[in-house]
Amino acid sequence: MCGIVGVLGNHEAAPILVEGLKRLEYRGYDSAGIATVDAGKLARRRAVGKLANLSDLLVHEPLAGKSGIGHTRWATHGAPTVDNAHPHRAGPVAVVHNGIIENFKELRANLAADGFEFSTETDTETVALLAERHLRNGLSPQEAAYQTIGELDGAFALAFLFDGHDDLMIATRKGSPLAIGHGDGEMFVGSDAIALAPFTDQITYLEEGDFAILTRTSLEIRDQNGELANRQKRLIQLDVARIDKGGHKHFMAKEIAEQPTAIDRALAAYLGHDNAINLPEALDFSKIERVTLVACGTGYYACLAAKYWFEQIARVPVEVDVASEFRYREPPITPGTLAIFVSQSGETADTLAALRYTAGKATQIAGLVNVPESSIARESDVVLPILAGPEISVASTKAFTCQLVILLLMALKAAEQRGTSLPAGLPQDLRSLPGLIHQTIAGESKVKSVSRELAKAQDIIFLGRGHLYPLALEGALKLKELSYIHAEGYASGELKHGPIALIDENVPVVVMAPSDALFDKTVSNMQEVMARGGKVVLITDAKGAQLASDGVTETLVLPEVNDALSPILYAIPAQQIAYYTAIAKGTDVDQPRNLAKSVTVE
Ligand code: AGP
Repeated sequence: MCGIVGVLGNHEAAPILVEGLKRLEYRGYDSAGIATVDAGKLARRRAVGKLANLSDLLVHEPLAGKSGIGHTRWATHGAPTVDNAHPHRAGPVAVVHNGIIENFKELRANLAADGFEFSTETDTETVALLAERHLRNGLSPQEAAYQTIGELDGAFALAFLFDGHDDLMIATRKGSPLAIGHGDGEMFVGSDAIALAPFTDQITYLEEGDFAILTRTSLEIRDQNGELANRQKRLIQLDVARIDKGGHKHFMAKEIAEQPTAIDRALAAYLGHDNAINLPEALDFSKIERVTLVACGTGYYACLAAKYWFEQIARVPVEVDVASEFRYREPPITPGTLAIFVSQSGETADTLAALRYTAGKATQIAGLVNVPESSIARESDVVLPILAGPEISVASTKAFTCQLVILLLMALKAAEQRGTSLPAGLPQDLRSLPGLIHQTIAGESKVKSVSRELAKAQDIIFLGRGHLYPLALEGALKLKELSYIHAEGYASGELKHGPIALIDENVPVVVMAPSDALFDKTVSNMQEVMARGGKVVLITDAKGAQLASDGVTETLVLPEVNDALSPILYAIPAQQIAYYTAIAKGTDVDQPRNLAKSVTVE
């Protein structure tokens, strides 16, 4: 994880670096720091915790200079302390790093044997020290950086700045993303285009193994073989105002509220007025024998829900896996496989590695991403942008529901192309979703009081059956992530195979059960909970509430919805419960502890 920014500019670098870091804080917020070169002199400022702490420090201890690098950290090696904060400095070199240097212990031992001393517990410090050693041996900054990266194993995006060099920066990547921004007589570096959006819309993405030498007016890129490389300059249209909470208390509240609009946007792109499903023509399900869906976290739960759709509606066998397992399991990928990778950021290291594993084996690779310029998008055969709009809060909300909508449209398209029948009312009932979600969000007052009660619990169980099972998992993940309350999701039918031992009056059970064909089964499981003193929060529709509210502690009533769409609608109370429980507990809603939005390390 971690975010990197750099500038060789014509204005003071510090405010530019802080602005760029603000847009990268979703990558980590354990510490932040910047280094600048002013009249040839390298200096740095670093602070533990959020970027605001660095901004405060800069008020009291400003840093001059028009060249600089900055970093926001998600700690991997070493605690979040000032010493461990980037930029790391060794003599005349400062470096910022995103990734993990896997051979840092060997490198440390080697440097120590050479008399070098360490002042941090990080893997990154070795990079600065290696470069310093090369400089001491008489290499130029460019050569020193080049030799250094040749000694590194692991994943990295790095930016180097050198004492005595106001107009030089080295940027290089292997395994972690890095972009160069072209200004007017200025040059920028950023972990993604979003960080660079306030400064330029002209971006060059570095490719695997690229080594870039930047001055204010020039950019030279060498590829992994040391050959001069000509990388495309792209025009990127990004919403510069994207880090605005729009009057909401938190980004998460804004992003929950944006779901009707986001889904409308996705439907406008993928569902014609005549209800024709408009997916990229290259996607041909008639030739597909099986689908493999891979993702992490919330994206994985979207994939699990999609398994029900693809299998029940299109009759295609589906395998779903978390990317961190898939990538090392070496699953056989046979011809006829459509591999779908789902990622909001498009940069998740495990998902990207899983995609690379399937390259050349699967018949087709499809990427469902929210960031169309991301690595996963660039490496997929077919890209389906989910069109959720920027999602800033670490907890995924609108990206999840947009992923679900597009996966459902894919399953419907597959059914159409394979000649299986579509569920009644689909795809046209999809158009009712924005309105139903709006109605659900508006009726949130009861969720607030329920959440205040849930906030008193130490453990909470979520139950769901059929395509509500993935929603039970998602509800539990969201709650853990935001409120730090231990929560687990189970398939309702699995409860009696072990987890029911946990049930007593102190372990609330949230049951997600629309009045569909499986309702009675779930209600039986709910009765088993109540028979053991368990307190149940039932999330259902009016019909379900009428049939099954007896003995239930609280009932949250949602609008009636087409059965196939219930996983999308039931995502809303799952998000609201997590949000309001976090508010009741006073945790940091948008930036929960230990997490980062974009997980670019494995
Ligand atoms: C969601 O609330 C989580 N923050 C997390 O599980 C996330 O979905 C996961 O890290 C995957 O991220 P991606 O969609 O950007 O690949």
